[in-house]
Formats: sequence, C-alpha cells, structure tokens
Amino acid sequence: MSERITLHLRVNGEDRYAVVPVHHTLLEVLREELALTGTKHGCELGECGTCAVLVDGRPVLSCLALAAEMDGKAVETVEGLQIGNDLHPLQAAFADLGAAQCGYCTPGILMTAKALLADNPEPSVPEIQEALAGNLCRCTGYHKIIQAVEWGAAKMRGVNEDPPDGVFYGADPDNPGAVRTGPTPVDLRLQERNPEDAGRLPEEVRPI
Ligand code: FES
Ligand code: FES
Repeated sequence: MSERITLHLRVNGEDRYAVVPVHHTLLEVLREELALTGTKHGCELGECGTCAVLVDGRPVLSCLALAAEMDGKAVETVEGLQIGNDLHPLQAAFADLGAAQCGYCTPGILMTAKALLADNPEPSVPEIQEALAGNLCRCTGYHKIIQAVEWGAAKMRGVNEDPPDGVFYGADPDNPGAVRTGPTPVDLRLQERNPEDAGRLPEEVRPI
C-alpha cells in the first residue's frame, strides 16, 4: 500500500482536507477525492491544457502538479467561477457567443483566461492567443473562444455589457431565419483594434 499524506488545500475559498496517496496529482485529488469534476482529464502529459486550474492565482496544469507540493495553497477551479447565481462574465460570454461546443476544453480555457485578465484587463487578440496557446480545442476553431475572452474582458471592465446584436451563431437579429453575410459587431471590433487580423477572418465575416 502506498504512503499517504494529509493534504490541506484552500479550494475556491473553502478549506478542504484529504488523505491521499503521496504520488497522486492535483488533478486526481480534485476529481477523485474532492469530487470537483469540472476540471477535465485529458492527455495527462501537459499537452492539452484541459486540466488547467489556478494555484495562488497562476495557471497550473493539474495533471503535472504533485498534490503533495500544493499543500496549503489556494486552488481555483471552474466550480468557483460562478458568483452567487450569476455566471462569471467569461462564462456568460462563452455562452452568449457559442464559444463552447462539447465543452471539454472550456474549464481549462476559462481558468487560463481568468488569470490573463487579472494581469491584463484589456488584452489584444495576439495576447489572448498567446495566453491560450497551451489550451487545445477540437471543436470550435478558436475564433469564438478568442471573441468570448475579449467580450468577457469588456464585460469585466464594465463596457459593452449587453450582448452585441447579431453575434449569436451569426444570425441576423432583424432576419433570424437568414444566413448572415456581413461581419458581426465583435468581428468589426476585432478588426478595428487588430487590422492585421482582417485577412485571417473567414470570408463570411469580412467587411462588406
Ligand atoms: S490533462 Fe493536463 S495537459 Fe492534458
Ligand atoms: S469545445 Fe470541444 S474541445 Fe473545445
């Protein structure tokens, strides 16, 4: 039988204790001992980022972090993002913009984005891309994720709080049954701030 230790973590603001095998990772402890299954188990190799949580405010790949080395530290997981009955602005932006599809990558991306915005409340698109470079998504193509982080940041700064018309899955709010042919307000805003990105936008969202 493997050696066990008593671990103390402050998880999402609450003191949590667990007796765990000394070789277990933080990911194993969160999911298997503390039943916090919002943090996802992906590659277990440090490649996919789906297991990312915040430790003392910094993103950490929990599959590579030995739980014993986290003793006494503050851990934030996706379960702690919601504020009362309200979604965190990043969660709301992801939902509003359809930035989560299967959702498997989403907890890790949300936590990584939260750390980014704590350091940089108004990141550029390249800065968002750099911060999320270690978070893989098989579904979305990343475009909506980048938009959602930018929109969540705007919500957190207290500007542009209303969801922009027409960004919901590309639908035109004045003609919901029609396929949208022009850029969404978020696309225009991204292009305005990052004109070099205009050429990388899909044809259907380029300015007309
Ligand atoms: S499960 Fe941790 S990086 Fe993939
Ligand atoms: S939404 Fe499916 S992996 Fe990102």
